Amino acid sequence: MSHALALEGLSKRYGSFTAVERVSLDVEQGAFLTLLGPSGSGKTTILMCIAGFVEPSEGAIRLDGRDITPLPPERRDFGMVFQGYALFPHMTVAENVAFPLRVRKMGAAAREAKVRGALDLVQLSAFGDRLPRQLSGGQQQRVALARALVFDPALLLLDEPLSALDKKLRAELQDELKALHRRVGRTFVNVTHDQEEALSLSDRVAILNHGKLIQQGAPAELYERPATRFVADFLGKSNFLQGVVREHLPEGFAIGAGATRVVQRGGVVPALGAPVLLSLRPEKMSLLAEGEAAENVVGGTIASWSYLGAGYALNVETPDFGMLRVTLPTWNAPIAPREGLAVRLGWSASASVPVLDDPA
Ligand SMILES: Nc1ncnc2c1ncn2[C@@H]1O[C@H](COP(=O)(O)OP(=O)(O)OP(=O)(O)O)[C@@H](O)[C@H]1O
Ligand SMILES: [Mg+2]
Repeated sequence: MSHALALEGLSKRYGSFTAVERVSLDVEQGAFLTLLGPSGSGKTTILMCIAGFVEPSEGAIRLDGRDITPLPPERRDFGMVFQGYALFPHMTVAENVAFPLRVRKMGAAAREAKVRGALDLVQLSAFGDRLPRQLSGGQQQRVALARALVFDPALLLLDEPLSALDKKLRAELQDELKALHRRVGRTFVNVTHDQEEALSLSDRVAILNHGKLIQQGAPAELYERPATRFVADFLGKSNFLQGVVREHLPEGFAIGAGATRVVQRGGVVPALGAPVLLSLRPEKMSLLAEGEAAENVVGGTIASWSYLGAGYALNVETPDFGMLRVTLPTWNAPIAPREGLAVRLGWSASASVPVLDDPA
């Protein structure tokens, strides 16, 4: 059965240091939630509180509405996969997966059936007799997943389960983890500081910084409508256009920065004269051809550029917004980039989003 998890005002202090500060989160049953944040932002601490290994200083953890905060880890019975695979090296794959069932004193016949089911789930049925050292990193990670799922845990907690793997293998296992989540239909809580992993795997992402929950939402919602500069910058890359509201328009407003006017559609309309920060993604701008128009146009000079295979990344120096990063697909780039080339950047008025500046 799948379960709903709720964190209510969860805090964890170590002496005078606050590792987690009043985090509240609702995770629907069967959801895949990812906690995303930089190193030291409190991700593992939150996971350890959920698992019961760390006692919160304040707040409550609820499973289907029931307060489980006082329960010891073994009474919560959650599956866990930690960073690095930590299989028992002297046990075969099947013995590793059977271990949680032995601890729970399950009989041999039932145990064998469960182990077979779990190995099927991670597509390693043929590997039961091998030792961990006879497996690749990705296969070992899948054994760790099987071991965490074999006893039908209410919740699966994953702490950077893919971080030890190389990029290609990580991408493969991301797809598998996603498929696995669909197959087992359990609630997963995953921790990562890899933003691509968070976007591709999760139904919901919670972004943390300095122990605080900054924003949560569906991946596309967070990417398209970041609330703060930190979120826009941490989830993908972004340019920030700083200006002052100069006009109110029927469908938004215009900001001014030096001699440049930029029209913004969407988002709350601030008062005339108010300072505004717009987040504008590098892929939402284009290089305009001669005579081509756009709602917003800014001239600049290519300061540097790089070829990334699928695209070009350009750094364009502009008079009023400093350096802007622009990415273009290589297959239909209107020009061959060259340092020192004068270009015009164009973008739609709804391509940017007003964001709050982070407190200094
Ligand atoms: N037992 C402890 N005693 C004191 N401080 C701790 C303890 N455990 C964690 N911290 C501190 O709490 C903060 C959050 O740590 P946590 O391990 O949750 O971060 P994280 O987001 O998982 O980081 P990473 O991405 O590096 O794994 C860090 O500053 C860490 O030093
Ligand atoms: Mg951690």
